[in-house]
Amino acid sequence: MVVARGLAPHSEPAADRSTQRLAGLIVLLALVQIYLGGLVAGLHAGLSYNTWPLMDGKVIPSDLLLLEPAWRNFFENPKMVQFVHRVGAYTLFVVALWHMIATWRRQPGTTHARRATLLFLLVLVQASIGIGTLLMQVPLHMALTHQGVALMVLGFAAAHWRGTKGAYPLPTEIAVRG
Ligand code: HEM
Repeated sequence: MVVARGLAPHSEPAADRSTQRLAGLIVLLALVQIYLGGLVAGLHAGLSYNTWPLMDGKVIPSDLLLLEPAWRNFFENPKMVQFVHRVGAYTLFVVALWHMIATWRRQPGTTHARRATLLFLLVLVQASIGIGTLLMQVPLHMALTHQGVALMVLGFAAAHWRGTKGAYPLPTEIAVRG
């Protein structure tokens, strides 16, 4: 995605540095979130605590650190693993929203701003599918859709990030006077 977007024609010059950085952060957050989702699926952690927004009746459920040593909870405790996946989703959502608003403020009407909007909408759709998957106790079609849209989020985020960096510089010509 990054290479293809880099080579494709660019309709806009590069975005400012902070837009570029925020777009890069979203790629990183999406990657981490997909890793966390893999842990949720692997532990079948989506088959328990099938409520939203509360988990086990609380915003921050108890017994998150049940296992010893504490770090094992982040990999083997389904409650902690599901909770961290939720927190990751909220973080990605807020950063994508912030990025969209900031890009429209700094560069209104540009391709960068339009792409930031589409990226936010993709994250919104993905979060909604994730919540639906959880509430419905992980039917296969929902789990597969959630997995597939995750790749769309990551792919689009990566292409958008590359887009904010603008076109490759053209090869410079050296004029030789005879
Ligand atoms: C918004 C960003 C999100 C991304 C990018 C994302 C990504 C993923 C990925 C890649 C998986 C692994 C699928 C697999 O390997 O089979 C997954 C699993 C899961 N996610 Fe998310 N997710 C997001 C948000 C959410 C939210 C908000 C919830 C619910 C509150 C949620 C609930 C689940 C559940 C229950 C599973 C397990 C599905 C299964 O067992 O197959 N996700 N997520």
